[in-house]
Amino acid sequence: MNHKRALQHPVFKLISKSAEVLNVDAFVIGGFVRDYLIERGNAKDIDIVAVGSGIELAKKVSEHIPSKPKVQIFKTYGTAMLQYEDIEIEFVGARKESYSENSRNPIVENGTLKDDQNRRDFTINALALSLNHDDFGELLDPFNGLEDLDKGIIRTPLDPNITYSDDPLRMMRAIRFATQLNFKIEEQSLKAITENKDRIKIITKERIVVELNKILESDTPSIGFLLLEKTGLLDYILPELTALKGIDEKEGQRHKDNFYHTLEVVDNISKTTDNLWLRWAALLHDIGKAPTKRFHKKIGWTFHAHEFVGSKMVYKLFKRLKMPLNDKMKFVQKMVLMSSRPIVLASDVTDSAVRRLVFDAGDHVDDLMTLCEADITTKNPKKFKKYHNNFQKVRDKIVEVEERDQIRNFQPPISGEEIMEAFNLKPSREIGVIKEAIKEAILEGEIPNEHEAAFQLMLEEGKKLGLKVAE
Ligand code: CTP
Repeated sequence: MNHKRALQHPVFKLISKSAEVLNVDAFVIGGFVRDYLIERGNAKDIDIVAVGSGIELAKKVSEHIPSKPKVQIFKTYGTAMLQYEDIEIEFVGARKESYSENSRNPIVENGTLKDDQNRRDFTINALALSLNHDDFGELLDPFNGLEDLDKGIIRTPLDPNITYSDDPLRMMRAIRFATQLNFKIEEQSLKAITENKDRIKIITKERIVVELNKILESDTPSIGFLLLEKTGLLDYILPELTALKGIDEKEGQRHKDNFYHTLEVVDNISKTTDNLWLRWAALLHDIGKAPTKRFHKKIGWTFHAHEFVGSKMVYKLFKRLKMPLNDKMKFVQKMVLMSSRPIVLASDVTDSAVRRLVFDAGDHVDDLMTLCEADITTKNPKKFKKYHNNFQKVRDKIVEVEERDQIRNFQPPISGEEIMEAFNLKPSREIGVIKEAIKEAILEGEIPNEHEAAFQLMLEEGKKLGLKVAE
């Protein structure tokens, strides 16, 4: 079947013309072809293989484009890239890799298209479309990638042990594609991943995190995390999660399996938010439960202060994975730290508790509520409904309290300068004491969040501290 329809963008004709001038064959390969065949979005990344020099082809293509875009050359890899409008095009020469008996170092030679397809990660990523004059748009599919695409199978073109040891990141990629596309990883491949899992250690943390993020951004991230767990990769990447596995029983008391619970929470939250960092928070919200788990004869299993411990673990985990230690990390920490607050509140919604929640969560209060709603995984429909209703009450109350008291991004109605002026004070401890008393009174609902009431309270508090009002 011809697939000219995929190649309507004028850039393909330009590449075709350039290849003809250089007398080389050229093909589109990889993600672009795959995503076209499964009608998955409009790819902005195009990979081109030239049977010859990819760099020369890129240069020629640039000459044919009126704006003459800059060709970026990566000599070590023998690849070149250029940007055409909003499309990024990467060029590579077809290569054949073989390994000598006594060395693991590949001998890279120029090869045919088929040699190049052989070296790719999966059959569904080895599909190529011809850009050549005689068979423009023809699909070249030596490994039945089309059939795997139809059946939803992730399979390697070569023996999976070879494909994965060529680049162990492909183990993560297999799981990531299985998650994004809801495909099955073929049995031999899954076995090879399990057997080669330790090789993931040679891959940089940054590349691993790219794949983890893509798994988390999928519709059903649990597919990926279950595969990571099953193959043993998760133990290396996120041991904090595997530590949550299992149910302990003592004196007839059991706790839930917090690993599977966590995955349910992540799937739930993925239905209501695309915010990657909120999804990370869902993934990590219970990690403090493993180190804090205790059994008490009278009360059963407890996870005392697991939110606090968990939020500290977030920092270490981000650091280990070389993830950004910036406001995103702080956001995840905050969500983990506060993850039980609305639950406690839901059973008895008082104004002051809601004010405190809004005060502590600030602009993230809605995200926190989204997290806590996703945390409801009870299989009892009555309880499920009850908990959701309670959270709705909390949400309503947040709006009500917000309108009245403006607690979000709280600014004290009386500044430190005003207190100093009122009592003729130099910077001192008393100022902090008075400010804290005013904040507490507002949060408790004893005074409204207004200047006049706060001023009166300041005078009273000053008196208690033995301060004299300035003349
Ligand atoms: N590839 C590979 N092994 C890798 C990475 C990439 O064989 N470790 C090949 C695959 O043929 C892949 C192509 O290079 O299709 C382009 O890689 P990349 O842009 O990373 O992935 P895409 O398949 O385009 O998919 P996505 O954009 O979703 O990451």
